[in-house]
Amino acid sequence: MDAHAMKVEAARAALAHVEDGMRLGIGTGSTAAEFVRLLAERVAKGLSVVGVPTSERTATQCRELGVPLATLEEMPELHLTIDGADEFDADLTLIKGGGGALLREKIVAAASERMIVIADESKRVDMLGRFPLPIEVNAFGLAATRIAVERAARSIGLGGPVELRMTENGPFVTDGGHFVLDASFGRIRDPRALSGLLHAVPGVVEHGLFIGMADLVIVAGAAGAQTVRPRAVQQNP
Ligand code: 5RP
Repeated sequence: MDAHAMKVEAARAALAHVEDGMRLGIGTGSTAAEFVRLLAERVAKGLSVVGVPTSERTATQCRELGVPLATLEEMPELHLTIDGADEFDADLTLIKGGGGALLREKIVAAASERMIVIADESKRVDMLGRFPLPIEVNAFGLAATRIAVERAARSIGLGGPVELRMTENGPFVTDGGHFVLDASFGRIRDPRALSGLLHAVPGVVEHGLFIGMADLVIVAGAAGAQTVRPRAVQQNP
């Protein structure tokens, strides 16, 4: 199975958790896009759901395919969010934001009773940090914020380049009008500590560490889709 087929497989398995009448958070990225495609097929056959998209990109795809949408203002409490991830570990702590939608993704996931992550096997790691951590920052004071982020990381032994995400036309700008710093800190031993330190930097809007938010990950590999629960839950079923 190639990477694309794995994404489709994970998305298809996630669809089994979607029930008629649900208010759904809908993620961003290539795996989430496969989910939207399959969801739209079910909607066309009569499934009744309303989605809150986590990005303008996802909103556009949903509109094109006929998935009914609402804003989070209109529907502030959601049953379930289904989204992709850049990395997940055994605690189901995630790195997200590779697609630049981390702020809306985190707000939408936090407004949901449950979050299911869909991923291919390449996203599973023993320790987070192979994928650079996206950090959404205010454009004002960018240089000072970058220095503060580097200093905060250094205080817990993390170093490495912290780079402004660029497009061919200049800095990448999020749906919220912010910039993104991609921090190549390497292995993140204590995501909670890093999260607290980053939140304490005034110019940081949000970061891509999702801690204690995912209820399960549906991960697709060569043998098909598998459901992974957080390590602590596995130990105390
Ligand atoms: C976007 C995200 C995506 O969920 C993440 O980047 C995974 O994307 P893909 O499914 O394309 O690998 O966090 O901000």
